Amino acid sequence: MILNYKAPLRGTLAVPGDKSISHRSVMFGALAQGTTEVSNFLTGADCLSTISCFRQMGIGIEQSGSSVRIHGKGLHGLQQPQQMLDAGNSGTTVRLLSGILAGQAFDSAITGDASIQKRPMKRVLTPLTQMNAQISSLSGNDCAPLVISHSSLRGIHYVSPVASAQVKSCVLLAGLYADGSTSVTEPTVSRNHSELMLRYFGAEVTSEGTTATIQPQPHLTGQKIEVPGDISSAAYFLAAALLVSGSEVLLTNVGINPTRDGMLRVCQAMGANISLQNVRLDGAEPCADLLVSSSSLHGTEIGGALIPTLIDELPVLAVLAAFADGETVIRDAAELKVKESDRIAVMAENLTRMGADVTATEDGMIIRGGRSLHGAVIDPHLDHRIAMSFAVAALAAEGETEILQEDCVRISYPGFYKDLESLMR
Ligand code: S3P
Repeated sequence: MILNYKAPLRGTLAVPGDKSISHRSVMFGALAQGTTEVSNFLTGADCLSTISCFRQMGIGIEQSGSSVRIHGKGLHGLQQPQQMLDAGNSGTTVRLLSGILAGQAFDSAITGDASIQKRPMKRVLTPLTQMNAQISSLSGNDCAPLVISHSSLRGIHYVSPVASAQVKSCVLLAGLYADGSTSVTEPTVSRNHSELMLRYFGAEVTSEGTTATIQPQPHLTGQKIEVPGDISSAAYFLAAALLVSGSEVLLTNVGINPTRDGMLRVCQAMGANISLQNVRLDGAEPCADLLVSSSSLHGTEIGGALIPTLIDELPVLAVLAAFADGETVIRDAAELKVKESDRIAVMAENLTRMGADVTATEDGMIIRGGRSLHGAVIDPHLDHRIAMSFAVAALAAEGETEILQEDCVRISYPGFYKDLESLMR
């Protein structure tokens, strides 16, 4: 796809529902008693993979666009899948489902696409094995396919070496089936959607500092869930409006959970004009409308406990940094190397193609901003967030940019290009 539009962005946009919350609504709805009704569900390929896995385990799920009804069968109501479960490109599906499958009274197996089969699963195999789960990597390389046999689980206190909501959620979900309480302590707090939603469904979950604890065998009750807009999707329009002069955009109904809002804090530290309006609670999740207008940005430092709160926004923040005055240092973000692509290498490669001054480091990037960038051919390595980040860079660069494999955005945002164009008319 060739991008050469350069107009200011103006107007109002409601971005699609949050990916993390959409996944969890199906998973927890399936394990609850009664029906869970979800609105503003994200119909990206990743969340559809989660629906398909639960249908294979006998859960009735009606989906009509972004409205989804899940007919839960309780904690012990899943049926053995007839085939290996397929998580597609979705790390959230594989890792959270591993925790659920470890607690079932049947054997199962789960895999995904070529990218998923390279992503590290030891991070869930280690705690689940400590819980007495029978789970292993079929190829013996600590990656999917994962095979799981029935066994009874024990509650543990797991000290995770990584701040990962996927690991934390996996262990807490296995904890639903354990013989005692299960806790996870992480180095810094990762997104807490599982804790909030499990509590909303009736589970006993507590959070204290960087530790989350769950009590086993709760009675989960189906709920109504209105999924807030995904701040990770809003991030591309925030960035585009900040960079293209004359822009002003209102992004409505965006989730602003404090474990996810690091992008807003960093943009404001860089000099961005972003204001929050109509702040409210949507079920268990805070959300707001974000008004953003073009701003002149300066470099900043991004590291430490902030990183998990903006982990998926770092590619687009790197784009902002390339256009900002001065130097931006991103550190403590080695997790970027094990996302849908090695996001440190792939961002550095493509920003360099556009003429930016970037050095990839072991745990982040150093970006010396303020150069004027030029259009280029972008290879996103099939990573949706890289493709969308460079669609933003294209708007602020001189000349034409071609994004290869542009369709990979369907993983989290099927209507992305259409929505972007709608703000430039
Ligand atoms: C997610 C957690 C994050 C994030 C991913 C979705 C989740 O991964 O990058 O896109 O839904 O729990 P980690 O928690 O492994 O960093």
